[in-house]
Amino acid sequence: MQFVLKPVYHRFEVGEFASQDYFDSRGALLLGKAQQVTPSLASFLNCQTVNTLHCECEFSNTIPSDLHASTLLRFPRTVPWLQRVYFETNLLKPELLFEAVHYVDQLVAHLSLHPFISSDLEFLQTSDKVTYKHSVNVALISYIIGKSMNFKGEKLRRLVLGALMHDIGKLEIPNEILNKPGALTEEEYEIMQTHPAKGVARSSDLLLPDSVLSAILQHHERWNGSGYPQGLVGQEILLSAQIMAVADVFDALITDRPYHAAIPPYHALEILLKSSGTEFSPEVLQALLCMIQLYPAGSVVTLNSGEVGIVLRFSYRNLTQPKIQVLSDAFGNPLETERIIDLSEDSSHYIQSFQHRRVG
Ligand SMILES: [Fe+2]
Repeated sequence: MQFVLKPVYHRFEVGEFASQDYFDSRGALLLGKAQQVTPSLASFLNCQTVNTLHCECEFSNTIPSDLHASTLLRFPRTVPWLQRVYFETNLLKPELLFEAVHYVDQLVAHLSLHPFISSDLEFLQTSDKVTYKHSVNVALISYIIGKSMNFKGEKLRRLVLGALMHDIGKLEIPNEILNKPGALTEEEYEIMQTHPAKGVARSSDLLLPDSVLSAILQHHERWNGSGYPQGLVGQEILLSAQIMAVADVFDALITDRPYHAAIPPYHALEILLKSSGTEFSPEVLQALLCMIQLYPAGSVVTLNSGEVGIVLRFSYRNLTQPKIQVLSDAFGNPLETERIIDLSEDSSHYIQSFQHRRVG
């Protein structure tokens, strides 16, 4: 096993969260994964060569990297609107991301032939880019969850179509409410809550199937009945709307909004998991987790003991407790003898963060 630093070109934007660790040419950590770029960090990092750490070992082959963003750019209708995090993290397997992008792109192409739907989508694309980008991403995540739950054929198509159209009612919400930087007043929130029903009213002339219209109406319903507009509970909510709810909130959390900054996708998942069985369907969350690599093999992590290690094996059965090979002790000294910690068997250790101070 050997660790090498490889220079990368990346333009750092103020406010972005690092998708990985960045180092100088000597191996000193310049910016840790999930750390936010401040104005001074951006100007510092953008005027020098930064490197990322690569593990040249058998594990690196388990993370396919051949599906680069340039390959995905074959899908011009969709890719410009996708979240960058899907390209830059190993959250989704590249082949799965490629498949989902391909599917959504094909659907958008197909809809562009539909005179009414295409005009609504085009209107959304030009008048409210944030919602359009969000809609594409919700469609992508809904596709991935749908695949995990064995959705196929027309059932899958209706799920992704509903996800793409889920916020179409926002076209009828005043811009000053939609993009208000602060908290909404009670009255404004009530207006905002009308967007699912407005979406259905707007879509009812588009000859969409009833199940798609119902999913649009129910995408803000919550598993415990705390959602709107009908306060449906559990399985009263259409399965496709349960899926769209998870995809909707996941994408909202990892995106900069007027009222909150984006958070790293790993943290967003933790937030969703805390609401499993309350706000969100446990079955749907499990289906999403089955498609996600929380700590892909090859990830460098810091344990609560201060030791730094590399993830040896990712297991879907133990999403947060992979096997770790410790590389250095709490003081940054490289270990001379091999030390493996199986987090699923060692309750005294857990992953503290992806950041570490120094590469040995
Ligand atoms: Fe919505």
